[in-house]
Amino acid sequence: MVDINWEELGFSYIKTPLRYLSYWKDGAWDEGVMTEDNQLHISEGSPAIHYGQQCFEGLKAYRCKDGSINLFRVEENAKRINRSGRRLIMPELPEEKFIEAVKKVVAANYDYVPPYGTGGTLYLRPIIIGVGDSIGVAPANEYIFTVFCMPVGPYFKGGMKPTNFIVSDYDRAAPAGTGAAKVGGNYAASLLPGTEAKERSFSDCIYLDPATHTKIEEVGAANFFGITKDNRFITPTSPSILPSITKYSLLYLAKERLGMEAIEGDCYLNELDQFSEAGACGTVAVISPIGGIQIGEEFHKFYSEDEVGPVTKRLYDELVGIQFGDVEAPEGWITKVEY
Ligand code: PLP
Ligand code: COI
Repeated sequence: MVDINWEELGFSYIKTPLRYLSYWKDGAWDEGVMTEDNQLHISEGSPAIHYGQQCFEGLKAYRCKDGSINLFRVEENAKRINRSGRRLIMPELPEEKFIEAVKKVVAANYDYVPPYGTGGTLYLRPIIIGVGDSIGVAPANEYIFTVFCMPVGPYFKGGMKPTNFIVSDYDRAAPAGTGAAKVGGNYAASLLPGTEAKERSFSDCIYLDPATHTKIEEVGAANFFGITKDNRFITPTSPSILPSITKYSLLYLAKERLGMEAIEGDCYLNELDQFSEAGACGTVAVISPIGGIQIGEEFHKFYSEDEVGPVTKRLYDELVGIQFGDVEAPEGWITKVEY
């Protein structure tokens, strides 16, 4: 049994025993191995460390009441890492290879999947990096695909408490840039705005559309959604935001399970009054209610700064219920990990 206080987990690095590692060279991926070594040994010329030629994913494994382990929509992460990779001219990773690697890492570290009821999950971080001896601004000639994992705590300690965000003057991505790809450069660009927001006691910053700065795009490392006063679910549409798997799941659940109109549309800053509730959604954020948003000198409040709104709560219960196996999942959303 591993010695972890599951109730105290946050979102920080914990070294687990085994990770998956595969190399791409001369046009093909090797078979891959499981290794105890958590250090990557790469050339100083690696394009990943000079020019940011890298992409990654984030997903979780969930312990169910009966002890079995669920993965949530892992095929979508397998597809997205390839979409991200194509944007940076990285080699295709077969979806089956991605899914097998994720399953192997969960199975090999199964006693690090937090017990059901603690709110904890096993977070998986697949990455592909361009490596090899190189120096010109050009795609790498070798790549590493690795998947490691760590137990993480619930985003909400002691319930779903709304938090506040601040609209940033910075952009995390350009209108036709890499915002829709899960690549390190977008996160490097978010460090300064995110730090400045946290220094002012906000949870994170909200990015506006980079072309006009009039619409909400992203909430830190999560997508935005709002519930209108006439009970519609609206989430931004934009080529420069990450297509969140959680967001697409909520669009489906709002429509099919809650009977709401659920659409991707514009979320103009000057139309925020239409929303009675708002939230951030993502693998790590799960669903985080937004209490209010600081916009310049003004503070716009949503449902409450202390309490989650009723529709956000219903969406949360449905989503998290599916992930932990307590609520029936739409077909194909859950993959069991044998261990
Ligand atoms: N937006 C950004 C910038 C993210 O980093 C993430 C996290 O992956 C999300 C949105 C949410 O995406 P997903 O629901 O697929 O985790
Ligand atoms: C995720 O939700 O998986 C993310 O990638 C967020 C992370 C960058 C903290």
